[in-house]
Amino acid sequence: MSIETTEFNHNHFIFDRCDTVELANRFGTPLYVLSEGQIQSRCKAIRDEFLLKYPNTRAAYASKAFLTMAMCKIIEKEGLGLDVVSGGELFTALQAQFPMEKVMFHGNNKSYEELELAVTNNVGRIIVDNFYELELLGAIAKTQNKKVDILFRITPEVEGKTHQYITTGQKDSKFGIPLQEEIIEEAVIQAMGSSYINLIGFHFHVGSQLFERESYIRGAETAIKLMKDLNIKLGFVTKELNIGGGFGINYTEEVTRPLHYFIDPIMETIKDHCKNVNIEMPTIIIEPGRWIVGEAGITLYTLGAIKEIPDVRTYISVDGGLPDNPRPALYNAKYRALVANKINEENDQLVTIAGKCCETGDILIWDLMVPKVAPGDILAVLNTGAYNYSMASNYNRLPRPAVVLISNGEPHLMVERETYQDLIEREIIPSHLIQRK
Ligand code: LLP
Repeated sequence: MSIETTEFNHNHFIFDRCDTVELANRFGTPLYVLSEGQIQSRCKAIRDEFLLKYPNTRAAYASKAFLTMAMCKIIEKEGLGLDVVSGGELFTALQAQFPMEKVMFHGNNKSYEELELAVTNNVGRIIVDNFYELELLGAIAKTQNKKVDILFRITPEVEGKTHQYITTGQKDSKFGIPLQEEIIEEAVIQAMGSSYINLIGFHFHVGSQLFERESYIRGAETAIKLMKDLNIKLGFVTKELNIGGGFGINYTEEVTRPLHYFIDPIMETIKDHCKNVNIEMPTIIIEPGRWIVGEAGITLYTLGAIKEIPDVRTYISVDGGLPDNPRPALYNAKYRALVANKINEENDQLVTIAGKCCETGDILIWDLMVPKVAPGDILAVLNTGAYNYSMASNYNRLPRPAVVLISNGEPHLMVERETYQDLIEREIIPSHLIQRK
């Protein structure tokens, strides 16, 4: 479908110059649709409001939000690095020939094989989470006779104001090295004493979907105090401080929080504190995921059964749900949606959008105003670019949707829709279960 040849139907929802009803007809539903232009404009904002505004900074895209090989290509073109958190994400980046020196490898329980893959391919930074990992990594680096650049992930002991499942910086957390002097100092001593480890600095991540800046500021203050202490006690000079991702996006309103809302006060604090304690300002790194891709994506569904329970509510079921978007069930996440083929009709009824899974909790949106609808109408759920495709499952044996990338008004298939055959592709029936007829 080309922008020049399409006669837009004025009752249709146009997303990034594409008619979403035509997309649904052409590619089927449920369908993830991603706007390359919107991803690019977020990356540009990162360049303008962070990388170019503040010297000595770097940014990486947290690929857990959404990753495919094509996404690696987009991020590479935009000049950002890539944060990966598993062998699978690293493999995807490798297959996309993403420059490995720009990859940062996270995770609280990286396996020997995952670390080996990272060391073999000269991943730029390994963010070491614990002593066990430090030991494994040292052994792997030794077998390859390499010196590996690392940051230590620390637990900054701050609680980000967000859903408890996605706050990570609190003291009682599975992430990072505890800040108790004897523990963190021991980690730094071990790293400094290793011929195979090059400790460059520290990383913290306070949580995800944050709007307040205070938790970043507290985290940065804590990190700078640590940097100063380690400098005095061990002579260690911190060259990099990675302050994580987590910048929130708006799911239900049409307001976007600009990057500088987060960045400016954080950078101000870091600059001031480094000056106050008289240490050199380290390179500052950020790694947003959701902020880059979340608002760039929508999901298209076809409406099916409509069930009106008098005096209770009207359930409208869609052809997907929890398997393609587990966030409402998992985090009580709220979404905005509109009926894509009736965009200009009056929203005069309150309905509940239900998924098709055998779970009472499989509700995508509890309260949504829509016009008169009928089976076959197309629903567009907005802001589904982050943590939807990447968290999708095959629950109830629903094949995962296709992903379409819109680029300059043209849709390109980025991931094919799974088939029923895909669902059984890796299965083996043990021979004793095969009955001879
Ligand atoms: N860096 C680290 C070390 C992280 O753990 C995360 C997210 C990020 C960066 C990127 O955070 P973002 O900028 O995307 O908020 N599944 C949840 C989100 C989990 C985030 C985990 N870590 C959700 O759907 O809300």
